[in-house]
Amino acid sequence: MKILIIGDGGREHAIAWKIQKDNPEAELFCAPGNAGTDVIAENIPIKADDIMEIVSWAVENKPDIAIVGPEMPLCLGVVDELTKRGIPTFGPSKAAAQLEGSKKFAKEIMISAQVPTARSTVVRTEKEARAAVEDYGIPVVIKADGLAAGKGVSVCTTPAEIDDAMKTFFVDQAFGEAADEILVEEYLVGEEASILAFVDGKNFIPLVSAQDHKRLQNDDKGPNTGGMGSYSPAPCVTPDMMAVVQSQVFKPVVEELNIRGITYKGILYAGLMLTRNGPKVLEFNCRFGDPETQSILPRMKSSLLEVMQACINGDLNKIKIDWSDDSCACVVMASGGYPGRYETEVPIEGLDEISKLEGVTVFHAGTKRLNETVVTDGGRVLGVTAIAPTLAEAVSHAYQGVLKISFSDANYRTDIAQRALKQKDKNK
Ligand code: AMP
Ligand code: GLY
Repeated sequence: MKILIIGDGGREHAIAWKIQKDNPEAELFCAPGNAGTDVIAENIPIKADDIMEIVSWAVENKPDIAIVGPEMPLCLGVVDELTKRGIPTFGPSKAAAQLEGSKKFAKEIMISAQVPTARSTVVRTEKEARAAVEDYGIPVVIKADGLAAGKGVSVCTTPAEIDDAMKTFFVDQAFGEAADEILVEEYLVGEEASILAFVDGKNFIPLVSAQDHKRLQNDDKGPNTGGMGSYSPAPCVTPDMMAVVQSQVFKPVVEELNIRGITYKGILYAGLMLTRNGPKVLEFNCRFGDPETQSILPRMKSSLLEVMQACINGDLNKIKIDWSDDSCACVVMASGGYPGRYETEVPIEGLDEISKLEGVTVFHAGTKRLNETVVTDGGRVLGVTAIAPTLAEAVSHAYQGVLKISFSDANYRTDIAQRALKQKDKNK
């Protein structure tokens, strides 16, 4: 069986790793992949958002299934293009992926489907934006409508931050077309959590809970990043909350899309704020989270490929997904300087030592091979991941792994999952 995985991050390495574990006979290809995927798959030098090149490769090589990792190719319509050519593809169509690609569209769907979310106003000019800010008061949140590589959201807690955001959005126009329309949004207070579900157009099955750490430094300080670590399960997500999110978020959203003639297949990721009045949706993503996937998939006992095929075929109702009760933690090692400027092609030492540690796996993100040496090739470089019977052990094993690996100017948080561990102690 031939499988094409599109993307080059830690998420895609984790997907390839899980499929290879379940289906050792499968022939895996990654476009473009990284130095981790090239051990278990053949890397093809095609960028994830080069839709036409991906389509021509797929037409020539006829994979039995294609799996799309990142949001950009989904929003550009890679699933539509591959499906049209007879290649079963895991991920939402271009129309369905608008749930992530346009925050305005996501709000429209949520309002029609009566999904709890922050109040918001769509604006186009600084004058309209300032009037909306006046309306909501400070703090307030300002968001680009379109995809902005995770950077298009400003949470403003002071008048000076409002001025900075106005400059970024309207003077510097930092987000280009993605900010042709802008949302000014009510500020919500609470703990954040993400809940993901497999969706087959009609039915859905939630995944186990996970939490990521978006800020660069310990104690959630410093700038926002793509995610500096993750763990699963997240104790703040209770079974009751899972039930509420299924009935108040996933079910009405999938139904509302169907009413509009849009079939959602793939992963639907709900970013939530757990407010005093219940969970409210901050955003939708149309794909697996990165680095949440790295701590979710090691806990999955069922075959990932079978679940993905059921999503494509519309028969998720016929399967059950089994999960391990173990906990998993992933610590991201990043290049010094990330999320700003950083060096690349820095040699990474110690990767061979990891196989000696039980339950530890290193998912590569920004890496490549230069001659025979693995070197850095991005901001987030590695996700050192451990699975163990308790979260405390998983965290400790992941950090043992981190200590074995080194590269010049490596940066990582030393408090991954600490809040969850404290919460667990409190609940005892
Ligand atoms: P988003 O990409 O929409 O999830 O926003 C990125 C981050 O901004 C979220 O993870 C939250 O920390 C914060 N955020 C977004 N919307 C709101 C809101 N309405 N209230 C408070 N914080 C928010
Ligand atoms: N970790 C957040 C995301 O994947 O969007």
